[in-house]
Amino acid sequence: MSDKAILEINGSKHEFPLVRGTENETAINIKTLRSDTGGITTIDPGYKNTGACESSITFLDGEKGILRYRGYSIEELAEKADFLEVVYLLIFGNLPTQEQLDKFHTDIKAKSIVDDDVKKILDAFPKTAHPMGVLSSLTSALTAFNPTSVNVDSEEDMYNTVVKILGKFPVLVAWTMRKKQGLPLDYGDNSLGYVENVLKMMFRKPNEEYVQNEILVNALDKLLILHADHEQNCSTSTVRIVGSSHAGLFASLSAGISALWGPLHGGANQAVLEMLEAIKADDGDTKKYMAKAKDKNDSFRLMGFGHRVYKNFDPRARIIKKAADEVLGDLGVEDPILDIAKGLEKEALEDQYFVDRKLYPNVDFYSGIIYRAMGIPTEMFTVMFALGRLPGWIAQWREMRLRKEPIGRPRQMYIGETLREFKSINKR
Ligand code: ACO
Repeated sequence: MSDKAILEINGSKHEFPLVRGTENETAINIKTLRSDTGGITTIDPGYKNTGACESSITFLDGEKGILRYRGYSIEELAEKADFLEVVYLLIFGNLPTQEQLDKFHTDIKAKSIVDDDVKKILDAFPKTAHPMGVLSSLTSALTAFNPTSVNVDSEEDMYNTVVKILGKFPVLVAWTMRKKQGLPLDYGDNSLGYVENVLKMMFRKPNEEYVQNEILVNALDKLLILHADHEQNCSTSTVRIVGSSHAGLFASLSAGISALWGPLHGGANQAVLEMLEAIKADDGDTKKYMAKAKDKNDSFRLMGFGHRVYKNFDPRARIIKKAADEVLGDLGVEDPILDIAKGLEKEALEDQYFVDRKLYPNVDFYSGIIYRAMGIPTEMFTVMFALGRLPGWIAQWREMRLRKEPIGRPRQMYIGETLREFKSINKR
């Protein structure tokens, strides 16, 4: 294969180098496009063809349904690793030794106290507030309680910021849910594992001892691993672009949480459950909803279906579907919603509209069913996604800062009015 691309504009030829990644992905490096061509840019709405950065964190091949974190397959990580090992892997690049993992966990626990005054901010939110809005605000508010900006040239400073947010974020997640449920806000238990602590913080009742349930611990651990990173998706790109202005980590994460909230991204897990509930209330009429999804005059989409990158299958969806069966079976929960989901999936996979457009179930199609079986309220589903995605966002922000990437600032094609003369108000 040639190592350059040639672009011909009005008879002039311009050469651009081809660059290749370690998995042989090829890209045209157009860094010099504007200077070579006298200001010509590219237009690519939704960045469907644009690589915004070079990254060594996550590899995915949408055609083959491959997802790897730092070279390890998602299937193997979901089966053999625990979440905290994956967090370390994503952020620092290699799986930790036992000693490194123990130190990492100790450091996270040491930073897990959230200033008690943050409760006052939380208190000002109405109970009806969506937990994602609350979480985004509280994450941003952490900046006020930790005002020193991180020196990215200091490894120690970077490490301290990373363990700080990994310690405090689960507390914010638990508080967001507890506030909504009118439960007292308290702190974690440092004698527990990271995921066990999350569950205890979320579900502990003030008048009874919390008993850990291994099924829930394993289910949540797996869900968090599956959500931990997904290269340059909407929320991760948001974190990177906000961070590229040298805004701090917490502010960048807060923006990422807002991006994740949307129903076309992380908010899909809540939307899927609401859609399945609506179908159930409609006598399980999946055909009606399939028809709506295919009707171009109807804005309805089959939530949990389709993906910008996966055009074969989403490997995470396969793992989650199996996990949903196991978790519901282990907990002895019979949920008619699971049967509706399976029926809908089968119909869609056999339907020409979905086949032609390569629309498959994505990670969110089954995750909500597991969260529900675990007793997590529907509005908290996307918050759980954020908890899982946290290490990915941190890893990507850290990579972007360490690589000293320039500020993100796309170009545009102006299609508005040309120069007009101002008319005073009485002449308009
Ligand atoms: N239901 C019905 N039709 C769909 C769906 C769907 N879920 N998804 C895509 N299509 C159709 C589109 O209407 C379009 O049809 P057309 O070519 O006839 O116009 C075609 O498939 C391509 O769709 P696009 O929107 O161009 O694909 P894009 O890559 O921009 O969008 C997205 C991907 C946003 C995920 C989309 O498939 C979608 O809206 N899915 C539902 C929401 C969802 O589940 N989001 C979670 C994604 S995973 C995550 O973020 C964790």
